[in-house]
Amino acid sequence: MSIQNRKITVVGAGYVGMTAAQLCAQKELASEIVVIDVNEGRAKGIALDLNQMAAIEGYSSRIVGTTDPKDTRGSDLFIVTAGLPRKPGMSRSDLLETNGKIIVEVARYIRDFSPEAIVIVVTNPLDTMVHLMRVKSGLPPKRVIGMAGVLDSARFCWFISEATGAHVQDIDAMVLGAHGDSMVPMPQFCTVNGVTLAHLVAKDKIAAMADRTRNGGAEIVNLLKTGSAFFAPASASVAMARAMLNDEKRVLPCACFLNGQYGFEGLYMGVPAVLGKEGVEKILEIPLDTDSRIQMQKTAGAIQKDLELLRNLALL
Ligand code: 2OP
Repeated sequence: MSIQNRKITVVGAGYVGMTAAQLCAQKELASEIVVIDVNEGRAKGIALDLNQMAAIEGYSSRIVGTTDPKDTRGSDLFIVTAGLPRKPGMSRSDLLETNGKIIVEVARYIRDFSPEAIVIVVTNPLDTMVHLMRVKSGLPPKRVIGMAGVLDSARFCWFISEATGAHVQDIDAMVLGAHGDSMVPMPQFCTVNGVTLAHLVAKDKIAAMADRTRNGGAEIVNLLKTGSAFFAPASASVAMARAMLNDEKRVLPCACFLNGQYGFEGLYMGVPAVLGKEGVEKILEIPLDTDSRIQMQKTAGAIQKDLELLRNLALL
């Protein structure tokens, strides 16, 4: 598929959505980028602004702002960011009902107008919203994926870069599990240009960085006060989009539907996956020590609890 025929829809024109649309245009991932939002002025305003930026930046993507789901027809890929962000003091799970209703609506038009699409969900609480999107859209699990691990790993990378002085691109960090307080940073798999992190940084410092990663989203919510992080979340979702649209086969941690992997069945959770044109082409199962396995059990429990709440709300 050439970029000339590609269509990406970004759902939600908040900060994450608008930044994702900008990155998709600047990376020329598609010839048409639709930005859909319930607020017509916002969707159209952002589209116009981005189209005018093309004269300066030189990209050839055309941006369309709309409130009409029909304009998303035939999209190859969706980045779903619609929903409320957290306020200080809120957990991601507090957004369950409001954002769940939005996801159900979006899933419906994806199913009706773009059944062949790949869908990246960014809306929180992530692991539950991606599950809901999968069920309500009826798309195969390999084409409905949640963005979390790329963001959480990028946060861990940054803290490791600060602690070691190494360039952030020389660092590989891995964070698995839920995108919430129970996420599982895996320092044993973190390296600085191939060197295991434990050789470079003291144990207590590593534990502090892992903790800061777990609270990475909340730290920014508390600083911004009126919203949550958007640059890194948008960038993470676009990295996943690029990997799939360009069939890059990149190994990225993302929320995937588990069918027995890691001992879990019928559940979305952050695991390392190969992303290519089919979506999730393979889930990598890495051997975990007892402590990590216990943490993965805990994180699965937290996701199950949110899914139960969603069922009680009759949304799932
Ligand atoms: C975050 O962690 C938005 O959940 C997102 O910042």
